[in-house]
Amino acid sequence: MERNRGRLVTFEGGEGTGKTTQLERLATFLEARGVSVVRTREPGGTQGAEAIRALLLDGAADRWSARSELLLFAAARQDHLEKVIEPALAAGSWVLCDRYLDSTRVYQGIAGELGLAFVDHLQSTVLGFRLPDLTVLLDLPVEHGLARRSRDGRATRFEQKGTSFHERVREGFLELARREPERFLLVDADRAVDAVAAEIARTVAARFGLPP
Ligand code: TYD
Repeated sequence: MERNRGRLVTFEGGEGTGKTTQLERLATFLEARGVSVVRTREPGGTQGAEAIRALLLDGAADRWSARSELLLFAAARQDHLEKVIEPALAAGSWVLCDRYLDSTRVYQGIAGELGLAFVDHLQSTVLGFRLPDLTVLLDLPVEHGLARRSRDGRATRFEQKGTSFHERVREGFLELARREPERFLLVDADRAVDAVAAEIARTVAARFGLPP
């Protein structure tokens, strides 16, 4: 497989599933094999999108209507795509992104009130739809993830939503993975960090022709 083309790898999952830790572990693995890596996150990744992030995560759970919230996520993603993701891929870097469009499909679409078709329609028409080359889905029982979070002592607007919302989030991600088994790598995140990192590294190396 062609080695010097940029790849977009996204990390998805519910709250407290270890996405940020695993993203860093894969970045280190790739850099040790000579790959240029850009680490980024959503909502955020640019100055403008980080400002939108604060609007989205802080404040009362009912601060935005479902449609307004979706459009804020879309605006943040558009800025991030234009300024960071597309230029990095064009330069041959790999972009590792902590959450991306599947979070919107699940949180606003499947678990939220808008439905998947509505969200996909907006994302494909407005955003032009840059799909990831690989999406790592970290799956964990909801109560384990939320327990990790409450130890961190912070609660965003989304973490304030009840357990049944987060159960729908978990099921929503699993449904997306079932629909696109080629794009998704479903990983059991209820294990030691090292074991999860090793499985992801092994799969990425095999899929993209890198040394193990
Ligand atoms: P963050 O603290 O980054 O969550 P985590 O560390 O679990 O990734 O907060 C991001 C929150 O925003 C998270 O609760 C999921 C939510 N979100 C959406 O609802 N839609 C989206 O499109 C994105 C990117 C995130």
